[in-house]
Amino acid sequence: MSTFAVISDVHGNLEALQAVLTKIDELGVTSIYSLGDVVGYGPDPEACVLLTEKHCCLRLMGNHEYAVVHPESGVTFNATAKLALDWTRQRIQEARLEDRISELQPFHQQGETLFVHGSVQNALYEYLVESDRNGHSTFDEVVESLENDFIYFRLCFVGHNHKPFLATTEGFLHPHDGLREFQVPQEERLYVSVGSVGQPRDRDPRACFVTYDGAKITYHRVAYPFEITAGKIRSRGLPGVLADRLALGR
Ligand SMILES: [Fe+2]
Repeated sequence: MSTFAVISDVHGNLEALQAVLTKIDELGVTSIYSLGDVVGYGPDPEACVLLTEKHCCLRLMGNHEYAVVHPESGVTFNATAKLALDWTRQRIQEARLEDRISELQPFHQQGETLFVHGSVQNALYEYLVESDRNGHSTFDEVVESLENDFIYFRLCFVGHNHKPFLATTEGFLHPHDGLREFQVPQEERLYVSVGSVGQPRDRDPRACFVTYDGAKITYHRVAYPFEITAGKIRSRGLPGVLADRLALGR
């Protein structure tokens, strides 16, 4: 198996996406899978759509893409996300990119690997969380899912969470600067939350993505000039809180 990279949740952050694509190129990796939410929150949705179209062999639909092309869906976003969503929809419509977004799917299986935006249970919307919150799957339920649902696939790469972690039937691992490479035993089933390129929420502001070479999962962190992205968020009239959070990684 040749090494591939998995990115997710770019969220209109062009500076972070460019830094990640440069890093992936330096690694000599040519297959890039995008798990969705390329748009939403950030100031450059059109450029990020075009850049992922150019570089990614798979592009999934995230809940933000879905809300952009299905304004009637009535999906609940908080007030900040809703403001950003309406702004993003207008930009996408002006760039005539809706048709290309509406044809995306929220999951894709390739051999023993499943790529999905949200979770195995809910491809678009579900967050995987440490303790019960709003009915989302807890880590215990994720381990149960590994045992019960991983029948036709062995590996599952998910986005949406914005927090990188790796779950096996043995338990959970959180990557950190002392440990970012994990050997995957043959036959092991694995839930891989790949983190976020454009809006990390694990208190590390650096862009996050994953590579897999058939035996080893590696979590990468890439510093990028988030103050440039934050400046654009403010100058383009998006909520300032979306700019502030980039420096904090939350
Ligand atoms: Fe999402």
